[in-house]
Amino acid sequence: MSDFVKSIFRNAVGSPIRELKKYSEIPGMISLAGGYPAPELMDAQGVQQVVGNLSTKQLTSAMQYGGTEGSKEFRATLATISQERELNCHPDEILVLSGSQQGIDLVARVILEPGDVVFVEAPTYPAALSAFRLAGATIHQLPSDKDGMIVSSLDEEMRRLKPKLLYLVPTFGNPSGRTLPLERRTLALQAAVRNNCVILEDDPYSELWFSVKAPPPIYSLRHSVPNAQNHCIYISSLSKTLAPALRLGWMLAPPTLLRAAVLAKQSDDMHASTLNQAIAATYIDNGTFADNLPRLRKFYKTGAEALCQSLHTHMGSRVEFDEPGGGMFVWARVDGIDTSQWLKRAIAAKAMFVPGVAFFASPDDTSWFRLSFASLDPDGIDQGIKRLSTVLDTVEA
Ligand SMILES: Cc1ncc(COP(=O)(O)O)c(C=O)c1O
Repeated sequence: MSDFVKSIFRNAVGSPIRELKKYSEIPGMISLAGGYPAPELMDAQGVQQVVGNLSTKQLTSAMQYGGTEGSKEFRATLATISQERELNCHPDEILVLSGSQQGIDLVARVILEPGDVVFVEAPTYPAALSAFRLAGATIHQLPSDKDGMIVSSLDEEMRRLKPKLLYLVPTFGNPSGRTLPLERRTLALQAAVRNNCVILEDDPYSELWFSVKAPPPIYSLRHSVPNAQNHCIYISSLSKTLAPALRLGWMLAPPTLLRAAVLAKQSDDMHASTLNQAIAATYIDNGTFADNLPRLRKFYKTGAEALCQSLHTHMGSRVEFDEPGGGMFVWARVDGIDTSQWLKRAIAAKAMFVPGVAFFASPDDTSWFRLSFASLDPDGIDQGIKRLSTVLDTVEA
């Protein structure tokens, strides 16, 4: 039967993070691996109230097929959220997605021909790498520092390799937790315009800032950087701020790209769940979404501080990392260690993280790893890090 499967799928590897999920279900396991929102942050009551208050008329219409672009009401709601992020868009510029992951896939499908070059920062989000690989693209990774992608040689690299797409998670990145400063955002967009490249900006985490808001999205610069309107796409998600199970995200893009994405989505899942759009629109419009955000920010800030403290306490100078200003992740390294080997020992000791190789298009350094503080309280985080440090000494370099 496998003879019928296209070679690109036959040879593809699954998402390393999804593959790890089965271990997180082992009783007693402390998982610092997944970027799953904390169960205590799921506003089940708020959602229950919204569902209970939907009239029969509203429910009946929400149970019907909907337009591919998304419902009028939800797009208006998303335009308001986008406005608060300085994105200044009209509801007609929005395509509602079944999760932002779908946006990455749609963009890959509508832009990339086999052999096209895609630039990504190193490290980057593995499911984006998969989408680009499955589209037949050649991926080129760019180095980064504590402020995200280094832009000093971007223009020259673009001239040399002619990428069609530059994919970035510029705000509290996954896995790096890093945030690209405004100056680098502007320089990246200018380079994209000069070299006929499109920036795909993936932004699921910007609402989760701890003390200081991140700079405005790259997409918000499309009117201030000359000729940039056709060179950026923005995607975001409600997965990290409301509930991943709603599978709701959105895309902002120039009209021809957005239209192509609509056509690609029509042949994919027709439209995002109309029922979930109605629930989310009401939940956001009645103010509960905004009221809940400070609680999320406080919880994740506490988790991030606890994780950084535990790393200092249990691993001392063996571990290097930068403290994130938001999001769900700490990106760290232990010099001279293969973190995939470490993970095997760690699972036996009932603790987990994600080895860093998954986040590179061309891995050459095995010493990195990603830790998430999103779904644990400070005690759980400390216990997890303690378990990891206990087995660290048994790992061969
Ligand atoms: C950078 C990034 N992009 C996209 C996604 C996918 O999110 P969604 O649940 O909206 O599909 C994730 C989820 O972890 C992510 O970290």
